[in-house]
Amino acid sequence: MNASNARLGWIGIGRMGYAMAERLAKGGADVTVWNRTAAKAAPLAAAGAKVAQDIVELASCDVVFVMVSTVDDVHEVILGANGLLSRGDAKPRMIVECSSISVDGSAALRAALAARGIDMLAAPVSGNAKVIKAGRLSFVCSGPRATFDAARPYLGLIGPAASYVGEGELARIVKICHNVFLGVVAQSLAEITVLAQKAGVPRHAFLDFMNQSVMGSTFSRYKTPAYVNLDFKATFTPPLLRKDLDLGLEAARTHDVPMPLASVARDAVQSLIGHGHLDDDFATLLLMQAANSGITLAPENVPVGDGLS
Ligand SMILES: NC(=O)c1ccc[n+]([C@@H]2O[C@H](COP(=O)([O-])OP(=O)(O)OC[C@H]3O[C@@H](n4cnc5c(N)ncnc54)[C@H](OP(=O)(O)O)[C@@H]3O)[C@@H](O)[C@H]2O)c1
Repeated sequence: MNASNARLGWIGIGRMGYAMAERLAKGGADVTVWNRTAAKAAPLAAAGAKVAQDIVELASCDVVFVMVSTVDDVHEVILGANGLLSRGDAKPRMIVECSSISVDGSAALRAALAARGIDMLAAPVSGNAKVIKAGRLSFVCSGPRATFDAARPYLGLIGPAASYVGEGELARIVKICHNVFLGVVAQSLAEITVLAQKAGVPRHAFLDFMNQSVMGSTFSRYKTPAYVNLDFKATFTPPLLRKDLDLGLEAARTHDVPMPLASVARDAVQSLIGHGHLDDDFATLLLMQAANSGITLAPENVPVGDGLS
């Protein structure tokens, strides 16, 4: 099995899965994709992917990637009654599981796959679909070192960085920590942007400074168009961010680690969801912060870069 001849499968053509599978296909990999809502997968044929009608068609692939929403969804698509392994006459050698899920859920999946003789790499990611298109996605991986080494060429077609952090489910806790930080930073950026604006500074001017300061980041730069011009088309939804903050707080309870900032950020995202922000971007934290500060925001209609394109 090498990067040029392995047959790859991809389950889950959502915002992330689409962009990741597209890079595999455009990179010349032999990839067959499946999505529950078939219409979302169909356009990938133009990128060179084969589009499966039934998930069990992917069972004969060498390596199957999975990128769905929650741990229950992961278990359903792989082990469920109509899942990948349901027919029992074929199985991949390896599953590369990329969704952001719990340590325990990942361990249960690894055990179920091991019982069937299937290797698993836990490989969650940092970056949204635009980051993937810009070729800047990063993976954090755990599992047997040999499994990581075997998957590495395919990960490299999707994004340049793949950190191997050790055996078992260690990658899950790294990803959970990463997204707790994402939630806290997004809420803090919303707070200071609204404070600066209410004190008289236009958002584009404030963020221009922040982005060039020592506190600026890839994240603050790529959220700047949303914060300045209020384009909240979803890159990552509030329910998925709440999932990750809940995973962080659950892990914090397990390990007796106080996480006061994570708790507040979790409730900020909860308020967002309570106000009906289910399908737009989590950058709508800015709108909540403005409403809680007694101001209504308008798009500034100033061209600002995102640091990616
Ligand atoms: N968006 C980001 O910036 C980002 C970044 C890093 C990690 N993540 C993580 O990556 C994962 C995917 O996120 P996303 O933003 O791509 O989400 P998304 O756009 O909502 O896509 C979710 C995908 O999972 C599929 N799915 C969900 N439940 C399923 C089930 N029970 N059976 C079959 N398919 C199912 C959906 O199929 P349908 O199309 O049929 O609904 C869709 O393809 C999540 O774990 C998320 O936390 C996201």
